[in-house]
Amino acid sequence: MSLNPLLRRAALIVMLATPVAAQEIGEDFALTATDGRRVGAEDLLGQPYMLFFGFTHCPEVCPTALAEISARLEDLGKDADRLIPVFVTVDPERDTAEYLAEYLGWFDPRIIGLRGTEAETEATARAFRATYRKVPLDGGGYTMDHTAVIYLMDADGVFFDRIDYRDSPQTQLQALRALLATP
Ligand code: NI
Repeated sequence: MSLNPLLRRAALIVMLATPVAAQEIGEDFALTATDGRRVGAEDLLGQPYMLFFGFTHCPEVCPTALAEISARLEDLGKDADRLIPVFVTVDPERDTAEYLAEYLGWFDPRIIGLRGTEAETEATARAFRATYRKVPLDGGGYTMDHTAVIYLMDADGVFFDRIDYRDSPQTQLQALRALLATP
């Protein structure tokens, strides 16, 4: 049975016009870690996590964000062990598991690198209401445009807050401490 196209359209508009509930963000996704482990929303339950989308060929935003994340983990001291930092590549074509692991070796070793198939990557971005796209470069090759929000998710897998890699360390720490203070 198919819905009347007009009704379907109306339903879609209603859906888009409705603010996304925190519970819906990051609700469902499944990717593979650089060590081959499958990691999805359910595997991260029980501990707060922070998640950032990017790609290893990123000239500036990603290395800056990962350096900031690493510095904040250091700032948090022992408390950082209760937080799972996750980096999701939006460029699985070039970011093989080996390459991703090697790249993340430049940053805090606790950061987990995740990658998926094209479909899994798309579904994960959709789950976080994030976007990315391939941008061809003059002279060949490509770069990626991507959402550069650092998502803070609580132990129930519910969106808690977001930080920006350009925020001051104090602002970032405040948000991270608030996240760690959630039950
Ligand atoms: Ni980037």
